[in-house]
Amino acid sequence: MRFTTTSSVLAALGLASLAAALDAVQIVQQIAPDATSCPSPPGDCRTAAQAAPFIARSMHAFGVGCPNEMASVVALMAFESVGFKYKHNVFPGRPGQGTANMQMAKYNLLYAKAIPAVEGNVTDIASVDGLPDDRLNWILSLVTPDEYNFGSGPWFLTTQCGADVRAKLQSNVDDGFQAYMQCVGVTVTDERKAYFDRAKKAFGVV
Ligand SMILES: *[C@@H]1O[C@H](CO)[C@@H](O)[C@H](O)[C@H]1NC(C)=O
Repeated sequence: MRFTTTSSVLAALGLASLAAALDAVQIVQQIAPDATSCPSPPGDCRTAAQAAPFIARSMHAFGVGCPNEMASVVALMAFESVGFKYKHNVFPGRPGQGTANMQMAKYNLLYAKAIPAVEGNVTDIASVDGLPDDRLNWILSLVTPDEYNFGSGPWFLTTQCGADVRAKLQSNVDDGFQAYMQCVGVTVTDERKAYFDRAKKAFGVV
């Protein structure tokens, strides 16, 4: 017993989903170690424990099950949201930019169109080009409830990056992360790498 982790004890007791939830919290907490508390009222902020179930559920929903891919996606979301403190762009304050992935307004429109419960609100909007700031922020607000906010990472990877990026991620996590960041339009800075290194460790990938 002493050598058994809590989660495998729970799994042995048939509480597999509770075990999975505990694992998810531990994993997300390791990747965003500062995400232990939020101000009151929380505003944009979520703790790792609050974010983890939504992250786990959305990975499943988008069919992202490979640990290399999950590590890379959570690393990106945790970095972009500054440990889940923000879900809208604060600096320089670009209207319509946000979610845990901190993606640009045009992606938030595409993401909104991909969510059955939200799609009806944006059917008339073909593009974000020329939309006023309040409209861009309204589109963002459609995709920032928790159940969607933490799904933007897996959505972006699976719909906006080529199959080659996923193949690379699956075969070599480091090369894959480079390709993934290229798809996102950023480079692997030391700060990004710090989140990525913690994510690799948390997911047990090398
Ligand atoms: C989205 O559309 C639904 C009806 O389909 C409506 O009830 C809801 O208020 C709309 N949401 C927003 C934020 O406008």
